[in-house]
Amino acid sequence: MTRLTTVASPEAAAQRAAEVLARLVQGAREERGVAHLGLAGGATPRATYDILGPLLADWSAVALWFGDERCVDAQDPDSNYRMVSESLLSHAGVPEASVHRIPGELGPDAGARAYARTLHEGVKAASRQADQTPRLDVILLGLGEDGHTASLFPGGDAVARVDELCVGVHDAPKPPPERISLSLGVLRAARRCVLLATGQAKADAVAAVLGEPDRHVPASLLRRGTLELIVDDAASPPPPLRGA
Ligand code: 6PG
Repeated sequence: MTRLTTVASPEAAAQRAAEVLARLVQGAREERGVAHLGLAGGATPRATYDILGPLLADWSAVALWFGDERCVDAQDPDSNYRMVSESLLSHAGVPEASVHRIPGELGPDAGARAYARTLHEGVKAASRQADQTPRLDVILLGLGEDGHTASLFPGGDAVARVDELCVGVHDAPKPPPERISLSLGVLRAARRCVLLATGQAKADAVAAVLGEPDRHVPASLLRRGTLELIVDDAASPPPPLRGA
């Protein structure tokens, strides 16, 4: 069952997401000696990362992955890596070696192949599914107004490529069009996914994620039993009509 946490403001949502991530990272490290944390891109998670850095004082044995990246240089204003380096990495004593950046500069297909190799080699047997899919311990994800998550967009062929680890995207409706994304298979294999959405513009997408799985709403295809939505009041779906 998808867990929905609704808080009053974007600031409260950022705080809650940071607390959930810190707790899950600590739990994974205690259980398996290492924690694999996937990071969301876009603008929303920046506030969460600013809190998470100091909150999780000890960053040893944490491997940082990215849910997706735009095919731009790492220092480009559009780069998710740059947003993470300006927020989380600027606050935390995160060993550079534990940060697995997606090489967006290689382009969608070569970059996806390279990151798939890195992910395959970087997640040891203890954190794999029976089909050998790497199981990240927790992945923070954002939500687009159209129901996309990571760089899996409605109508794109990337959503269906569940057996691959990483997929190249050439026609993203959200600029820039060329991206690299973890596959839906890897997102669904994660032990936990935390979907963070704030603002009224996301309310319809949040409602769609809570509804029936719909291939036109990629975020609704995440594994419900491992998914926690954290939303503010503005993004929260309206209560069902009485008697409806
Ligand atoms: C990206 C993100 C994308 C993002 C959503 C929400 O690279 O753009 O991975 O999936 O999380 O589009 O973006 P905002 O947080 O900016 O609304």
